[in-house]
Amino acid sequence: MSVSNIDRAREAGRAARPASIKVWDPFVRVFHWSLVALFAIAWFSADEWDRAHEVSGYAIAGLIAMRLVWGLIGTQHARFSDFVYRPSTVIAYLNDSVFLRAKRHIGHNPAGGAMVVALLASLAVAVGTGIISVSDRFWGVEWVEEVHEVASYLTLGLVVAHVLGVVLASLQHRENLVRSMITGWKRKNDH
Ligand code: HEM
Ligand code: HEM
Repeated sequence: MSVSNIDRAREAGRAARPASIKVWDPFVRVFHWSLVALFAIAWFSADEWDRAHEVSGYAIAGLIAMRLVWGLIGTQHARFSDFVYRPSTVIAYLNDSVFLRAKRHIGHNPAGGAMVVALLASLAVAVGTGIISVSDRFWGVEWVEEVHEVASYLTLGLVVAHVLGVVLASLQHRENLVRSMITGWKRKNDH
């Protein structure tokens, strides 16, 4: 085989493999999997082990604060401007998802983006009320404890919907979104 043939064969091999694109930067990936671990610790330590509960909760508060900053100055698909859509677009996307005709997105799809906002907001209420519930001013105040509990259960419900959404989108577009959140890479071509 001449040199040019080898080159051609190499190029063909390269073209046959689906091109990949880096989507999630290291911050987003470390943020995500730390959040998963810390949420599990906060959840299972509630009413069981105060120290672990509070420390994991404070760590979640720190992660949320950093994610908010990263949403403004981070890489392309980490930015809120990349995945926060108007409600009508989110509803149209959910409707398309039900009929398995939702468009594939390289970053978060409109429903996934709305879920990110809902998760961050619900987590913020849970940690916010958790933190003030151990302060002198709000210690033992009933509404604070109630809001803390409701926000925590709401977050758990959102997490269940979030994981189901990830599974549905992965099946529909024949890709492993969980692996992408680990490696950062996704298939480039849009079909
Ligand atoms: C084992 C369970 C979980 C799996 C498999 C999972 C999987 C994923 C995947 C695949 C994405 C990217 C979605 C996309 O491609 O658009 C994602 C994003 C996200 N997940 Fe999860 N997730 C899990 C648990 C959680 C939990 C417990 C929370 C919060 C309490 C959470 C919060 C988030 C957030 C905030 C994002 C957006 C990431 C970002 O843009 O910074 N996830 N998750
Ligand atoms: C995302 C983070 C958090 C989650 C998911 C969470 C979840 C929960 C849950 C499920 C309970 C049990 C409620 C009940 O059975 O009455 C609880 C109780 C409690 N949490 Fe958290 N929590 C979080 C963060 C925090 C933080 C940051 C603090 C304080 C620094 C805190 C302080 C407390 C306290 C003092 C209680 C017992 C009082 C009560 O019943 O409300 N939590 N938490």
